[in-house]
Amino acid sequence: MIDQPLVLGIETSCDETAVGIVRGRTLLANVISSSVEEHARFGGVVPEIASRAHLEAMPSVIEEALKIAQISLRDLDAIGVTAGPGLIGALLVGTSAAHGLSLALDKPLFGVNHLSSHLAVDALDESRALTPAIGLLVSGGHSSIIQVTNLVSEFHVLGATIDDAAGEAFDKIARLLELDFPGGPAIDELAVAGDFDAIEFPRGLANSDYNFSFSGLKTAVSRYLQSTPNALKADVAASFQEAVVDVLLTKAVRACTETGIEALIIAGGVAANSRLRSEATRRCAEAKIELRTPPRALCTDNGAMVAAISSLAVSAGVAPSRPGFATLSTAPVDRPIWG
Ligand code: KG4
Ligand code: ZN
Repeated sequence: MIDQPLVLGIETSCDETAVGIVRGRTLLANVISSSVEEHARFGGVVPEIASRAHLEAMPSVIEEALKIAQISLRDLDAIGVTAGPGLIGALLVGTSAAHGLSLALDKPLFGVNHLSSHLAVDALDESRALTPAIGLLVSGGHSSIIQVTNLVSEFHVLGATIDDAAGEAFDKIARLLELDFPGGPAIDELAVAGDFDAIEFPRGLANSDYNFSFSGLKTAVSRYLQSTPNALKADVAASFQEAVVDVLLTKAVRACTETGIEALIIAGGVAANSRLRSEATRRCAEAKIELRTPPRALCTDNGAMVAAISSLAVSAGVAPSRPGFATLSTAPVDRPIWG
């Protein structure tokens, strides 16, 4: 078992070609090349464009990460790579690169779950003990509440969205408001100038279990815009954002109090949202819950999170993945490391 493993992580599940390097729980490098501008005019990520962009960017992103971390490939103890879920062609570029490195360097390879990696980025804050936590995972493709006992081995899903993911709702509403893709950051920015109390949008499944539903909210915003041609876009953005934030935090805080778990990790692209972050700070303080949100740059897709979960796996003595492991477009969050 290696105590402070030096690990390189590769992430290519969507439109970011990302490589991170960690030593133990210390982040040494986090390099990201995004093809987002090539997708913007289509209003969403085009898989084929993303795959080609990964192929082109991969060598230079790896090289730059090694340079920043001031290490050579030979120094590595292990390699980690996102094996799913994500766009299959995009994932295959990353897993092929990782297999190549692993074989050429004779280093162990970990195929990891993109969703669990989002939560494992929390480990990069070395000041914290890795205690059990409730995870609120909110990204473009997933929204779930997860009981995390151990970041590399023990996840229990308490609830998930029954329709759209939170990030997907942001992206769809941004399109209705004629904002740029991706919609999350655009709504976040516009909402600053708006009144979050201006319009009372529905809170889907607010009083039921830990599942989410955002499709009713999407319909309500769409109807409001149709019936109110002179609507102030900033008010619509702020009120929509408030409805999402309210539902996410009501359930996440309730999951903490009902399970008796005193820490909440909020991760995934939507965790970069400024209203979600400030409201989470307020509500967690009120409920005496320790709030753990990664720095904004580590909320959206990155390689540091892949390196982080792989490093935890090495330290915990988890066996590497079998060579040629499957790359999967869908995968449940409770399978953090591929066998
Ligand atoms: O985790 P992520 O980078 O990729 C996936 O795994 O899906 O999440 C991307 C999602 C997008 O839907 C994007 O609109 C949303 O995260 N997002 C945000 C913000 N930044 C990114 N949503 C709300 N506010 C933000 N500031
Ligand atoms: Zn993600």
